[in-house]
Amino acid sequence: MTTQVLLATAIASLSLGSASADQKIDLKTKSSQMSFDIKNSGQLYRCYFGRKLANQDDARLNSSSSTLAYPTLWNANEGWANASGEYNISITQGDGRVSLDLVLDSYKVRTPTPGQELAVFEFRDTHYPVRVRLSVLAHEDSDVFEQWLEITNNGKDAITIDEAASGHLKVKGTRYYVSTFSGTWGGESFISEEEVKQGNILERSSHTGTRTAQEGTPGFILSLNGPAQEDEGEVFLGALAWSGNYDLRFKHSPNHHMFASFGANLRQSPYRLEADRTLTLPRWIVTYSDKGKGEATRQLHRWARAGGIQKGTSERDTLLNSWEGAHFNFDEPLLHKMMERSADMGLELFVLDDGWFANKYPRNYDNAGLGDWTVNKKKLPNGVEGLVKVAKDNKIKFGIWVEPEMVNPKSELYETHPDWVIKLPHRPLREERSQLVLDLSNPAVQDYIIKCMDDLLSGNPEIAYIKWDCNRTVWDPGSTYLSDANQKNLHVDYVNGYYRIMDELVKKHPNVIFQACASGGGRADFGAMKYHHEFWVSDNTDPYDRIFMQWGVGHLFPAISMASHVTVSPCHQTSRSTPLKFRFDVASAARLGFELQPQNLTQDEVTFSKKALTEYKRIRPVVQLGDLYRLRSPYDTKEASLMYVKEESGKQRAVVFAYLLSRLQADSTSPIRLKGLKPDKRYKVTELNVDHSGKRTFLDGKEVGGDYLMGNGISFGWGKELQSCVIELQEI
Ligand code: GLA
Repeated sequence: MTTQVLLATAIASLSLGSASADQKIDLKTKSSQMSFDIKNSGQLYRCYFGRKLANQDDARLNSSSSTLAYPTLWNANEGWANASGEYNISITQGDGRVSLDLVLDSYKVRTPTPGQELAVFEFRDTHYPVRVRLSVLAHEDSDVFEQWLEITNNGKDAITIDEAASGHLKVKGTRYYVSTFSGTWGGESFISEEEVKQGNILERSSHTGTRTAQEGTPGFILSLNGPAQEDEGEVFLGALAWSGNYDLRFKHSPNHHMFASFGANLRQSPYRLEADRTLTLPRWIVTYSDKGKGEATRQLHRWARAGGIQKGTSERDTLLNSWEGAHFNFDEPLLHKMMERSADMGLELFVLDDGWFANKYPRNYDNAGLGDWTVNKKKLPNGVEGLVKVAKDNKIKFGIWVEPEMVNPKSELYETHPDWVIKLPHRPLREERSQLVLDLSNPAVQDYIIKCMDDLLSGNPEIAYIKWDCNRTVWDPGSTYLSDANQKNLHVDYVNGYYRIMDELVKKHPNVIFQACASGGGRADFGAMKYHHEFWVSDNTDPYDRIFMQWGVGHLFPAISMASHVTVSPCHQTSRSTPLKFRFDVASAARLGFELQPQNLTQDEVTFSKKALTEYKRIRPVVQLGDLYRLRSPYDTKEASLMYVKEESGKQRAVVFAYLLSRLQADSTSPIRLKGLKPDKRYKVTELNVDHSGKRTFLDGKEVGGDYLMGNGISFGWGKELQSCVIELQEI
C-alpha cells in the first residue's frame, strides 16, 4: 500500500523540536491564523483559528477558547472548553482495551515550498506502542489550511481504529448554521442550510463505498451567529478530501459550543492496523472568512486551482462527448462525421463515450463487456488508432470513456477472475446496472487496471482525455484478497487502491485530462480531484436544474473543474424544452462542452453555436481562472445571477451570467448589483450570445463606471422565462 509506510523511515528525515516546555506555534496565511500552544504536560492545544491578528500573541488571551488540537476518547472531558465529551479518535488496542492517551513527543514547523507553512506534530501513546502524526499545512495565498493524520502501530499485535476524524472545529457563537450539499442521481449538490439547535447533532455521512459524493459531496459551511451571507459574517468553509465513506458531524453541545468533526466514516468498517503499519487518513480542508461565504469560496477556489485539483491553472478545451448523441449505437462512419462536425463548429476535442470495447461479449449495451479493455473490431475495424487519426486529420483532439473499476459478469475478465469481485460468501451476487465492483484492495486488480489503462494510453499517445466512470456502489463488502480478520478494511483499502491507480496513471501520462464521472457527480470530491482535472456535475443536463446544481457545488469547486454540456431540447432526463441560448449560457458558466448529435442541428443552431463557441473561448480565461461572485441565488429568487472577475495585465475583465427561471417575477425584478469591480474605473459592456429574441440589456456597447455597476446594478429586460443574458465587462 502506498499509504502505509513504516513511520520510522519517515520520522528520520525530520529534525524535531522538543515538546517538553511551553511553546507557541502560529501558522499564518494572508489573512488568517491558526495558533497552537504546547503545555508543559505535553498537551497540544489549538488556541485560535480566525482572522490574522496584528499581535499574534493576542490569540492566547482567552484560555477558555483553547481546545485540544486532537482530542482522544481518553481526554474527551479534559478542561472546561472540551467538557462535553467530544473526541476525534478512538482505538482498540491489541489487548482489546478501548484506550488511547496521546502526548506530544516532538514537533517541527517548516516551509515545504514558498507560500506554505507545515507543522508536523508527533504524538505517542503514554503506554501502548501507537504513534499519531498530525500535519497542518497553511497556504498563505489562498488562506486555506489542510490537516491530516497518520497512525502507526509499532506493536506486535494488530490494533483497531474505531474512529479517526481528520479534523475538527470547536467554536463559540450565538447560533450555528450549517450548509451541506446533498443530492441524488440526476440532482446532485443541492445546497441546504439548517440551524443546529442546542443539544442537537447534524450529521452528513455516506456508506455507499464508491461514488459517495452522489448523495452529497463531503463539503460544508459552518456559519456563526446567523445564516451564511455572501459578503458578511463569520464562516468556516471546507471539505473532506475523500472518495469513500465519510462522516461530517456538527454538534451544538449542551454548554453551547459547536464541535464539528470531519473524517472517513469507519462505523461500518473499523480499520484493523497490523503491526509495523501506518494508515494515512484523508485531508481535511478548511478556510475561514469574516466576510461571508463569498470570500470563503474564492479562497477555496484559489487553493483548488493552485493544486487542489489537477492542473488548475491551464485552460480546458471545449469538447463534444458522444454519449447523448449516439449512446451505444455507432460505427466508424458515424464517429467520423461527428468529429468532422465538431471540428467545423470550433470544438477542440472529441470524446468517444461508452460502447467501443470488448469482442467476445461486445459492449453493445450496459450488460456486457466491462473489464475487457480492447477495442471492438467489428464496430471499429481500424481501432482506436483509426479514430485518433481521423481526429488529427480534423485538427481536434481525441478522448475516450472507461470504467475500469467495474466488471460485467458477461465478460472475459469475469470468466478468468471471478475471485476479483467484491462479494460475500453465502450470499448471492447482486448486480447493479448489470455489473459488479472489482476488489481494488487487491494489488493484482490494481495492477491489471493500471496495465489496461496504460496500454490504452501508451498505445495511443495522442489520447488527450479520459472520462473515468464509476457506476455502482458497494453492497456486499467482502474481499477474497483481504484476510478474514481484515475484511472490514475493504472500504478504506478500496479508496486507497483507486488512488494508487490514479496516481500511477497521472504520473505516467501527465498530459492527459482525467474527468471523474460516477453516474454523474458521484466523485465531486477533493480526494478524487487530486488526480482528476474535472468532474461531471450530473447526468442530468437540463440547464434549469443545472443552475441549482452548479450553484451548489460551485461553493466548493471552481468552474474549471465543472463539466457542463449543451444537450438537445427537450432534455433527455427531464423532457423540459429550453432555448439553445439558455443551454449555452448555463454551460458557459463552467467548462463548456456539447453532448448531442451535431448532424441533427439546424443551420441556425450551427450558426449560433459557432459564434457562442468563439465567444466562450474569449471569455474562457475569466470563467475558468477568475474569481466567482454569486449575485442572486436561484434558491431564493426566480432570477439567478453570478459573475467571474479576473485581473489581466493590470486591467480587469469580468463576465456576468443571469438567468430568468420563471416568468412570474419577470416584471418585478430589481437591478442586480455587480461585485468585485473597481469603483473608480470604467468598463466597456458587451452582451454576448445574443439570439433572435434580442438583447436583454440596454447597457450593451456602453462604457459604464464600476461604481454604477456595483452601486446601482444592471436591470435585465426579460420577456419570458428561460431567457438568459451573458455580459462581458472590460476595464478601459
Ligand atoms: C454513466 C455516465 C454517463 C455515460 C454512461 C455510459 O451513466 O454518467 O455520462 O458515460 O455511464 O454508460
